Amino acid sequence: MKKILPDIDPEGRFKQSWDAFILLMTVVAAVETPLKLAFQMPLQGGLLALELFITACFVADMVLNFLTPVQVNGQVVGSRRGIAAHYLKGWFVLDLLSIFPWALFGPAWEGLRLLRLLRLAHIAKFMQKMAKENVINASVLRMIFLGFWVALFAHLAACAWIAMGAGNIGHEWTAQRSLLYLRSFYWAVTTIATIGYGDVTPVTPLQTGFAIVVEVIGAGLYGYVIAIFASLIANLDSARRKFSEQIDEINNFMRFRKIPLPLQRQIRGYYDHLWESRRGYHESHVLADLPESLRLKVSIFINKSMLEKVPIFEGAGDALVEELLLHLKPSIFTPGDYVFRTGDVGDCMYFVNNGRVEVVSSDGKTVFATLSPGSYFGETALILNQPRNACVRAVDYVDLYTLHRGTLHRILEKFPAFQTHLHELATSRQVEHKK
Ligand code: CMP
Repeated sequence: MKKILPDIDPEGRFKQSWDAFILLMTVVAAVETPLKLAFQMPLQGGLLALELFITACFVADMVLNFLTPVQVNGQVVGSRRGIAAHYLKGWFVLDLLSIFPWALFGPAWEGLRLLRLLRLAHIAKFMQKMAKENVINASVLRMIFLGFWVALFAHLAACAWIAMGAGNIGHEWTAQRSLLYLRSFYWAVTTIATIGYGDVTPVTPLQTGFAIVVEVIGAGLYGYVIAIFASLIANLDSARRKFSEQIDEINNFMRFRKIPLPLQRQIRGYYDHLWESRRGYHESHVLADLPESLRLKVSIFINKSMLEKVPIFEGAGDALVEELLLHLKPSIFTPGDYVFRTGDVGDCMYFVNNGRVEVVSSDGKTVFATLSPGSYFGETALILNQPRNACVRAVDYVDLYTLHRGTLHRILEKFPAFQTHLHELATSRQVEHKK
């Protein structure tokens, strides 16, 4: 059957902007509906127009919901019947209650307009989505939302306070709506924050009962907000915190084992480099949890700049590059470290990603070559099946990628052109040494 109305793409720009707009309308409705009720403003003129506009937006939103495919348990439900069933079982009732024209039934039903606030439940959904998409730091996001809920609660309490007669607020505050609201909001905030100066107090039994409710909720809420803020601030930069904990542990260990000071300095330098170059993350640990296809995509993305530096990869096909990337393991050396020495048995070759290394004689005095990012070394021992023909020493902090002998041979079997190239290079480097 042909669909009369087109499907809406749930991830498309239109739906995203629409959702944001509806959320804004929900907040507007949540602020203005209690205000109108508290001040008993008649629904006419501009207020009526606003009311009708917001209701029309909410109705349109419900219609769009019937046209937007949804994900249920990871499966996309695109049939109109499936979408409707999902919506009717979920948010539909709540959305319907929020658009119902209660005012038409007469003043006694007017209070039910507050049911519009039910739509605020959508905000929780929106927040989850923002958190998932990592738009801003999750802790900052939670703080913003918590602030919003507390402010809204204070607003509702202030409106209810006004509706109940506002206690002993004093006639100088009742002359204007804005002043009355300001003073009532002040009462709500001081009560919620458990400050309670006692300058605005309840006078009727209803006001007293309401004040008790706000005080009790306020005390709980206030404690909760403080606790959440404290923990959120502590978690704001969780990478930094975790890294600092690791450094503390290393420092304690070094002090306990009386590690010589120069070595301690070298170790600290290594951790500084780890933080500067990769924010303390060990790539291989993070990537290990990912399935192979995703790991490959992330590796290609991270190492793109490294690959661009390596001339032999320029003409290499995607298949070779992917195969290599999957098996490269990062390793770091600090200045002056030997990656290996002449005569060692070689089990890996290396690609220089960052920093420089020097190829030096056994005594470390003669420098045969200095290799910068994009170079590679250690292939000769693997290709010609012999011990290392020189020492390699780190000049700066160097980030290397290592490729294990077994993997290299497997790759070479598959890609003969790469094999020929490496063979020629290994032989030429060999000859240079003999000169
Ligand atoms: P291998 O013999 O495995 O270990 C030492 C490495 O240094 C060697 O492989 C080459 O990759 C590299 N190497 C040796 N001589 C030179 C040179 N003259 N220029 C650049 N690299 C070299």
